[in-house]
Amino acid sequence: MSESRQDQLTDHSYDGIQEYDNPLPGWWKLLFWGTFGFSVLYWTWFHIWPGQSIIATWEAQVEEARSQGYARFGELKDDAETLVRLMNDPEAVAIGQALFQSKGCVACHGPEGGGVVNLGANFTDDYAINFQTIDQIPNIIRTGVPGTAMVSQTALLAPAEVYFVAAYVASLRGKTVANAKERDPRAKPIEPWPTF
Ligand code: HEC
Repeated sequence: MSESRQDQLTDHSYDGIQEYDNPLPGWWKLLFWGTFGFSVLYWTWFHIWPGQSIIATWEAQVEEARSQGYARFGELKDDAETLVRLMNDPEAVAIGQALFQSKGCVACHGPEGGGVVNLGANFTDDYAINFQTIDQIPNIIRTGVPGTAMVSQTALLAPAEVYFVAAYVASLRGKTVANAKERDPRAKPIEPWPTF
């Protein structure tokens, strides 16, 4: 910014209004190029630097929050003790119910698990087609029932979530719901759930 260039008029004239040809102030240019430089660093760090993407960070945080949330329910295994413990815990059942409703089980098993004719099984009666004991329910949800509309649900449910939705299914037994489906001819009676 030399003195001689200061306040020199350009030959522009708009309705008699003229303008100086002064350079932009140094602090303004510094800010401008500073934001530009910052954006390059920011983009490199958050979008292409390995493991640092915003999405990866967010997903890791969600996964961590999820498992922390489930940690208080203790170890989750395919055994009757785990399923009965969750089934008797209203908080766990509420999580299972929310999953049952949000992950589409309701479409085939009815809004209250009473089953849908020609579709999903009724969970409120004392009969089942594919399981005899409570600890078998998680695996049916994982693998589905080959040759039926019941496909594996693992794409929709995190490993821990399978236990909660299974516990909710088990908790429906004995409930009276509207439009419960008739007993399926293939369904066999199941023993009462164990107690611990
Ligand atoms: C597209 C329809 C459909 C969806 C969605 C669906 N199911 Fe099923 N489900 C079925 C059908 C049909 C059967 C019965 C299979 C048979 O005839 O053996 C079944 C059977 C089951 C059984 C075994 C019942 C029994 O008596 O043997 C369980 C447990 C089960 N589903 C849980 C779930 C859960 C939990 C979800 C949601 C995460 C779900 N299903 C989503 C259609 C569905």
